[in-house]
Amino acid sequence: MEVFHYPRPDLAASIAKQLTPDPIFGALSGLYLAAPRRTGKSTFLRRDLVPAILEADKFPIVVDLWEDRSRDPSDILRRRIGQALEDLRSTPEKALDRSRLRRISALGFSVGIADLDPFSGTIPEGLERIGAAVAQDIVLIVDEAQQALVSEGGMDAMFALKAARDAMNQRQEGSRLFLIMTGSHRSKLAELVLGAKAPFYGGSVQDFPVLDEDFVRALIKQVGSARNVEISPKDGAEAFEILMFRPEAFMKALRDEIFEAALSGEKINLTRRARTVRDAIWGDLDAELDGLSKVQRALFEALLEGGEGFSPFSEQTLKEVTHRSGVDGVTKSTVQKAMKALVDKELVWQPGSGRYAIDNQDMLDMHRRMKPRT
Ligand SMILES: Nc1ncnc2c1ncn2[C@@H]1O[C@H](COP(=O)(O)OP(=O)(O)OP(=O)(O)O)[C@@H](O)[C@H]1O
Ligand SMILES: [Mg+2]
Repeated sequence: MEVFHYPRPDLAASIAKQLTPDPIFGALSGLYLAAPRRTGKSTFLRRDLVPAILEADKFPIVVDLWEDRSRDPSDILRRRIGQALEDLRSTPEKALDRSRLRRISALGFSVGIADLDPFSGTIPEGLERIGAAVAQDIVLIVDEAQQALVSEGGMDAMFALKAARDAMNQRQEGSRLFLIMTGSHRSKLAELVLGAKAPFYGGSVQDFPVLDEDFVRALIKQVGSARNVEISPKDGAEAFEILMFRPEAFMKALRDEIFEAALSGEKINLTRRARTVRDAIWGDLDAELDGLSKVQRALFEALLEGGEGFSPFSEQTLKEVTHRSGVDGVTKSTVQKAMKALVDKELVWQPGSGRYAIDNQDMLDMHRRMKPRT
């Protein structure tokens, strides 16, 4: 059976429309879109946005910085550029019609990074050459762009993209370059645009819309008619919200509930099932905190509560950690050690010196949603 896919052409068209040099309505400086894990970002890029960009007579290149996390982001970028140039070189200019461009663009999804040779020139040179070869504007889509923060090479690559964009967009003629960055970690993505030293200073991170009730309606209609069951769209929408707008988790809840209701003869209760699925997800998250010492756990909870302005080594935090952990004599150095352990375990990340944030956004979500119940 074909995997269910709910297309989002309107959203794709509205994003493609923003890629214009118009200084008021356009987004020349780039788009930075964030949405939580597993909510359908990459699927949207591949299935909806790339076709919409081709339709607008622009040439899309998609680079996924999570494709191989052992590689430096700049290496991944160079390999994709190298591949696009190679594909274009092997196509005579006359044959570069839309369908050929579509095929070249789609190759980006099927050829593994390891099989490609990196482009040996600079990143701006590579993009410039691609622009000249296709004689169209380029839209470079960087998925999981926040991964650039992990290395100096990654950040250098981002500065190179900025330089390429400025050079290509400030001249009178030739292809322009539009950048679209997506990421599953809002605050990490924000590091690319915040602060005078950030590569895309002046840009702003927007929320990429999660799938909506129409998706739920389309899915339950299809499943309902295939299995001969009726599910109310209202229950469906509520269950989808409980499951943090994740299609996979929602489909699992739907499948399990229909199956078990058929066995037991009971009425379908999708929202109850969604809570069960969510509790299992939360259970896994909570298990990640199992090995923490009392102080580490107390500090982690204080950070969850404290949010943005959390100051880990203040008097007040020391008192709070002492109180929460029940451990006597918590000092600044105890907290420093505990914080280091949390960073090493990748539960906490450090956006800058003295600044700390919860790494896993699902933990924040769990905390926020559980709070009213306690
Ligand atoms: N429009 C859609 N219709 C049906 N299923 C979808 C749709 N979008 C996403 N999905 C399903 O949701 C799951 C997650 O999608 P996807 O990998 O695109 O999300 P993501 O946000 O990029 O996740 P990650 O944070 O892991 O990168 C996949 O199983 C995918 O098939
Ligand atoms: Mg993805």
